[in-house]
Amino acid sequence: MDQNLFFILLLTALCSVSECVQRQYHFINERKNWTEAQRYCRENYTDLATVDNINDMNELKKSVNVGSLLYVYIGLHKTSRYKWQWSSGEPALYLNWATGQPEGTDDCAMMTNGQWHDIPCSNTQPFICNNTNAGLVLVNQMMKWRDAQSYCRQNHIDLVSVRNQNENQQVEQLINDRHLSGSYIWIGLFRDSWQWSDQSDSSFRYWNPIEPNNMGGAENCTVIEPNAQGQWNDIPWNYKYPFVCHEDFDSELILIKENLTWSEALSYCRQNHVDLVSVHSEEIQRGVMNVVKRASTAAVWLGLHNYCIMNMWLWVSGEIVCYHNWAPGNGTTRENCSLENRKGAVQSGGDQRWISLPESHKLNFICSRY
Ligand SMILES: *[C@@H]1O[C@H](CO)[C@@H](O)[C@H](O)[C@H]1NC(C)=O
Ligand SMILES: *[C@@H]1O[C@H](CO)[C@@H](O)[C@H](O)[C@H]1NC(C)=O
Ligand SMILES: *[C@@H]1O[C@H](CO)[C@@H](O)[C@H](O)[C@H]1NC(C)=O
Ligand SMILES: *[C@@H]1O[C@H](CO)[C@@H](O)[C@H](O)[C@H]1NC(C)=O
Ligand SMILES: *[C@@H]1O[C@H](CO)[C@@H](O)[C@H](O)[C@H]1NC(C)=O
Repeated sequence: MDQNLFFILLLTALCSVSECVQRQYHFINERKNWTEAQRYCRENYTDLATVDNINDMNELKKSVNVGSLLYVYIGLHKTSRYKWQWSSGEPALYLNWATGQPEGTDDCAMMTNGQWHDIPCSNTQPFICNNTNAGLVLVNQMMKWRDAQSYCRQNHIDLVSVRNQNENQQVEQLINDRHLSGSYIWIGLFRDSWQWSDQSDSSFRYWNPIEPNNMGGAENCTVIEPNAQGQWNDIPWNYKYPFVCHEDFDSELILIKENLTWSEALSYCRQNHVDLVSVHSEEIQRGVMNVVKRASTAAVWLGLHNYCIMNMWLWVSGEIVCYHNWAPGNGTTRENCSLENRKGAVQSGGDQRWISLPESHKLNFICSRY
């Protein structure tokens, strides 16, 4: 096959993998401080809960038994690093600050004469929402940035994102068409120093309108208030509350918690799913690292076998091993042919590196579903 074509096909297959990640929330009705809750979630699931959008928020609320609970921790906590981001959750890659901007004292951004300035979020001005059908909608009502955000989310999609020069011109044009050139108009750009426990980029915020208020100066963690539609509140990290973990799992991969030899595992996957997993990339390895956390054996079989005469390791899918994650000393070509009946596994704890083990070991294993 043509070399270039091969790589294009391979990349397409890999890109589709990341879209298969699904998120599930787990409500843990035990009281822990934020740090203990984080540790618990990382040991048992993926991390303390991250919320990407309103759909996630609704799912999360469903997972919590409302009852008489006051507060429930999620993964958002305060750091000392401020970052500009779009209300829609997109990273702010294109920036069009006016000269001398941002001044760095304020947390919300407006456009005037096509350029951006940072000003206090409590100022009131007109704003622009994004709407699926109507495109951009200029709302000529004076609102604070957060109220404008809520208005857009309720009536349209969100405050507008301006992601390139073309979009900047469209927004400027709309402002001119409405005879508001020279006015200050909110766009969806804001900055804060809140960060998710799993380091994800989500800039989705669902604060109660009077929060975060950093009461007492030590409120660096976030709870949802089940009795206030799940809206968020900042509180100190050391209070003990129930919490919500999330589990990101790759619908592509399935961990089978039965203890089988490598050959038995291979037959099992081929009969019940598609195959023992072939880990062609770091992306698949990340999926593997997530699922093996729940394994009951110290290592988990992969579809990795040793073709001794050629002195190489192969995936059961037929490819040679390009991306690899071997533990030191494992997977080397120096291993001699008495190792022919060794197969590849991934450690379920620690660094989650790959190791070679005699094929008669009985381990959990991972099948691929597609
Ligand atoms: C508007 O929202 C839609 C749907 O979320 C999105 O695809 C589009 O990129 C957004 N446009 C702007 C300018 O924010
Ligand atoms: C919150 O602040 C306290 C006191 O400065 C600190 O010990 C703790 O680690 C912080 N927690 C988080 C999650 O940032
Ligand atoms: C598989 O082996 C592990 C470790 O020896 C053990 O804890 C687990 O119960 C076994 N699982 C089954 C289904 O036999
Ligand atoms: C493979 O890696 C494991 C875990 O690090 C190590 O204990 C073992 O000695 C390595 N095998 C070889 C042949 O070096
Ligand atoms: C291969 O390894 C086995 C077991 O470690 C050893 O007994 C044997 O001498 C080695 N053979 C060669 C050719 O190195």
